[in-house]
Amino acid sequence: MFASSVAMSLLAAVAFAQQLSSTLTQVVDFGPNPRNVSFYIYVPQNLQPKPPILVAPHWCHGTAQQVFEYRSWAAAGDKYGFITIYPNTSNVVDQCWDVSSNATLTHNGGGDSLGIVSMVKWALKRYGGDKDRVFVSGTSSGAMMTNVLVGAYPDVFAAGSAWAGVPFGCFAGDDFDVWSDACASGKIIMTGAEWATLVKKAYPGYSGFRPKLQVLHGTVDTVLYPQNFEEEIKQWTSVFGYSPTRNETTQNTPLEGWTRYRYGPKFEAYSAAGVDHNIPNQDELVLEYFDLKCRRTKKGKCYSRASGHRA
Ligand SMILES: *[C@@H]1O[C@H](CO)[C@@H](O)[C@H](O)[C@H]1NC(C)=O
Ligand SMILES: *[C@@H]1O[C@H](CO)[C@@H](O)[C@H](O)[C@H]1NC(C)=O
Ligand SMILES: *[C@@H]1O[C@H](CO)[C@@H](O)[C@H](O)[C@H]1NC(C)=O
Ligand SMILES: *[C@@H]1O[C@H](CO)[C@@H](O)[C@H](O)[C@H]1NC(C)=O
Repeated sequence: MFASSVAMSLLAAVAFAQQLSSTLTQVVDFGPNPRNVSFYIYVPQNLQPKPPILVAPHWCHGTAQQVFEYRSWAAAGDKYGFITIYPNTSNVVDQCWDVSSNATLTHNGGGDSLGIVSMVKWALKRYGGDKDRVFVSGTSSGAMMTNVLVGAYPDVFAAGSAWAGVPFGCFAGDDFDVWSDACASGKIIMTGAEWATLVKKAYPGYSGFRPKLQVLHGTVDTVLYPQNFEEEIKQWTSVFGYSPTRNETTQNTPLEGWTRYRYGPKFEAYSAAGVDHNIPNQDELVLEYFDLKCRRTKKGKCYSRASGHRA
């Protein structure tokens, strides 16, 4: 079911990887990578000085190549001068990310998350990137990894955008590629405080900046049940110390039937009425949320960890 639902959306998708200024390139030997995740990168020709970095983890049964072809990140990178990192899992069984191991759920603990963070650090160094403007967005397993990365590496990311995923730690299990039916079907229900404890335990003692996050989910998703949306809301409002009561509601944005709830400056959630696990890409929305159209020439004006502007 998982594979076919994702494959369908690919058939309907437009291939974006045409007429680009550069190509998808593999990098080897980039730092600690205990799970042998492979590293693909797109560096546009007109890179802006101190370029921002977007990490785009794939879905289950997906690949770096597919995200490169079917999402508009590389074309947007050409236009706005940012780098995109496309990690590729070494898990050949179902090509899902390791969002379950204690290692991946622990800051500098190992697992797939550490390999991906090593890619970010390598790219920041190699291209003189802006360490205050590193972002992550993915769908499905890529959304789960988005939750994992902003949770375990709040010191690395400025923001995340998670499309049809599950909360940080919801798939936690005793191995690197656990598929949690209980979580997927919405049966793992906890209080906000309990969920927040999982995030805080990932990096004990950390009290610095936390990345802002948006989560988006279809109301009729039968692969990762919409209960996971409610659990993500409980988790992140608790992490940020916001009330779980919706503070601001905007209807029909960015599409008809989608509703945006804001809970505070750093957390928003979109409920997409009648949408299943094939949640339609809205890359513009993500670019805006990350402020990736903003160039550094407008000094201090772009959203970043340092400025917090446009949070
Ligand atoms: C890591 O993955 C690559 C394929 O991406 C493979 O060629 C290589 O043998 C793997 N290395 C280890 C140590 O498993
Ligand atoms: C990623 O891994 C998959 C599955 O092992 C493989 O088919 C694909 O060629 C790899 N590389 C890219 C760039 O997606
Ligand atoms: C998880 O990993 C951390 C860091 O490696 C370790 O301190 C902790 O004991 C581990 N927890 C479990 C439940 O294995
Ligand atoms: C909730 O909305 C009000 C009115 O727009 C605003 O003043 C307040 O700061 C918001 N609260 C949070 C936590 O963002």
